[in-house]
Amino acid sequence: MDQNSAPLHGLWTSRWTFVLAATGSAVGLGNVWKFPYITGVNGGGAFVLVYLGCILLITLPIMMAEIMLGRAGRRSPVNTMRALARQAGASRLWMAVGWLGLTAGFLILSYYSVIAGWTIAYVPRAAAGDFAGLDGAGIAAEFAALLADPAELVIWHSFFMLMTVGVISRGVSQGLERAVSVLMPGLFVLLLVLLGYALTLDGFGAGVAYLFRPDFSQLSGAGFLAALGQAFFTLSIGMGAIMAYGAYLPDETNLASTTLFVGAADTLVALVAGLVVFALVFSTGLEPAAGPGLIFETLPHAFGQMPGGAIIGGVFFLLLMVAAWTSAISLLEPAVAWLVERFDITRPAAAAGCGAVAWLLGLGTLFSFNLLADFKPVAGRTLFDLTDYLTSNIMLPLGGLLIALFVAWRMSDATRRAEAGLGGPLYTGWLWLLRVVAPLGVLLVFLSAVGVELF
Ligand code: TRP
Repeated sequence: MDQNSAPLHGLWTSRWTFVLAATGSAVGLGNVWKFPYITGVNGGGAFVLVYLGCILLITLPIMMAEIMLGRAGRRSPVNTMRALARQAGASRLWMAVGWLGLTAGFLILSYYSVIAGWTIAYVPRAAAGDFAGLDGAGIAAEFAALLADPAELVIWHSFFMLMTVGVISRGVSQGLERAVSVLMPGLFVLLLVLLGYALTLDGFGAGVAYLFRPDFSQLSGAGFLAALGQAFFTLSIGMGAIMAYGAYLPDETNLASTTLFVGAADTLVALVAGLVVFALVFSTGLEPAAGPGLIFETLPHAFGQMPGGAIIGGVFFLLLMVAAWTSAISLLEPAVAWLVERFDITRPAAAAGCGAVAWLLGLGTLFSFNLLADFKPVAGRTLFDLTDYLTSNIMLPLGGLLIALFVAWRMSDATRRAEAGLGGPLYTGWLWLLRVVAPLGVLLVFLSAVGVELF
């Protein structure tokens, strides 16, 4: 294929725009909401260590491979995989990577939008100073009241989905640039402010120890799988989001440095969020394993106590909503790009249709926190737990595994070498991470979760 062919859906205005968009996709609820809560559910330090190991050895190399595929194919993930498989003389079945990704994207977006709705709901609450003077029980009661109100949750879920569809309709590079380059650093600065506050708390040392002192007796096979799943989720890889973004990337961009930048920024945000949340957990006597509500039950403490807490809290939840927004966009883009290519419909029509499907699916998650809280169809999991488990722990690692295998074992070395833009030992190192380390890592973790005694 002609590698300089113009992409169908436009091109990023510069390399920097891609870095912004990829960082916008990576940094989101996964860092601030999910990382602390699943770290707590899985017992702390050992989970964090495995997570960081997965990022370095498995998901960063795959991230670079996924961006590379997108740029080489220049189409939606489904058609990129079709074209590249044909070019490499490989089976058409590799298109399954694209289909698996589209499905995962819908499922993730469905619940992502519901949780983003919680953060929107917390903007006016924080800004009005609702948390001032509340103790742990009061804060938990406020969160429980939100979850018990499906009508309010539906409003914010719908609002967030409309925001996402709105941006996608116009094409991703329009408007996204400002959101990411101004507001995301803002979120990071506020996290640092919170970190400054956390440093003054009694529980800070306990929080640091919880995050960074590994105790492997706390980590189960399921915990290994959760760490692997989170390493995929947080970098937005394994479902074609970054592949779709890579399709709009100018040819001359250096993939490795871009990947490392996004990975470093993403990891930093997650770790700072974790430090803040666990300092609060241990200062207020909260349960680390409180679950998906963890940031909504800890951060309000800080906003209720610190000077200027109402403003800081209101702005914080607003910026977290923006971070979620720039992530949600990337979840929808692969499906929309495919619909536009396949059926020749307009972007707004494709975006609206996809948004409607994800919105509808999201009601399952939404009601799993109230009306359907006792509906646990499989393995004692609610609809939210099931959607999250199926996507993060199974579909993303599987998609990532296939991407690694395709790039490492099916692509011609000439194409791969030219696209990767890495020289000498770096290229070889990356190739063998993809060839052996990443696939083996994913397989071992899958097996350990199935309960096979490998460790
Ligand atoms: N990475 C984002 C977060 O941490 C979520 C996300 C966006 C995502 N696009 C994705 C996750 C694609 C998996 C796949 O919040």
